[in-house]
Amino acid sequence: VDVEPTPSDVFLRVQQARRHGLTVGCVPTMGALHAGHVSLVERARAECGFVVATIFVNPTQFGPGEDFSRYPRTLDDDLQLCRAAGADLVFTPTAAGMYVAGNDTIVQVCELSKVLEGACRPGHFDGVTTVVARLLNITAPDRAYFGQKDFQQQVLIRRMVQDLFIPVEVITCPIVREPDGLAMSSRNRYLNPEERSRAAQLYQALLVARNLASTTTLSPSEISRAMTRHLEKTGGIEVQYTAVVDAETLAPLSARTGGTGVALIAVRVGTTRLIDNEVLMFPPLRGPHQSA
Ligand code: PAF
Repeated sequence: VDVEPTPSDVFLRVQQARRHGLTVGCVPTMGALHAGHVSLVERARAECGFVVATIFVNPTQFGPGEDFSRYPRTLDDDLQLCRAAGADLVFTPTAAGMYVAGNDTIVQVCELSKVLEGACRPGHFDGVTTVVARLLNITAPDRAYFGQKDFQQQVLIRRMVQDLFIPVEVITCPIVREPDGLAMSSRNRYLNPEERSRAAQLYQALLVARNLASTTTLSPSEISRAMTRHLEKTGGIEVQYTAVVDAETLAPLSARTGGTGVALIAVRVGTTRLIDNEVLMFPPLRGPHQSA
């Protein structure tokens, strides 16, 4: 796999591929790759003629006091995984290459960036959308692949792409889980064994939500509270939020109307922040006038 740190060189390589008639897929990552990332590269490989993975621990999406300096950096392993999964090119820019001296532009998705994750991590999504816009301009892909694990992130990226007329198809790929249900995350390697076993309860809480959505008439907010109760009874999990929201607008769902929603969880286990989610199918409620 070719490795290229310079934006203008990546741009030229992609244009060359395009001239050869290849469709271009881009998989933006922050490295510390795991099976979830590998599934994104493999999907891009299956769907595109030329696959660019990007590896950049983006400083602007970390708040003060967050884990930027200790975020795992495993470039040699990452390059092997990219190669094995079929990437053609890996873009490994430097911070100075992405944020050239004097740069003065950010991209903000105004409202969606302030709720849920954005409320817990002020400024986080401005960093994400700013860097993703730059990565999409540099790699100019036909398709860009993101994981459903960062549910709100893919909602914001879809909004940005639509609002700015960025000519790319955003593809969201399913969460990849460990055998006990823990969603794959680069941050899982921060967990000690005891925290690691507690962390499996995030998925259990999502299963509680899924079960309540399909077998009861509980409201979205009652389902959200049931997730919080499940997590709190585990002990050693600090719940930052649980929510059941509209999967496209992230607006709170106040009542059961049928259709899809998404259950979201953010917690702290020890010093590690973890998020997870599950799309919920709400069967249409039968009114009193309808027969069974
Ligand atoms: O999901 C991530 O790894 C990052 O937020 C992204 C999309 C690569 C932007 O830095």
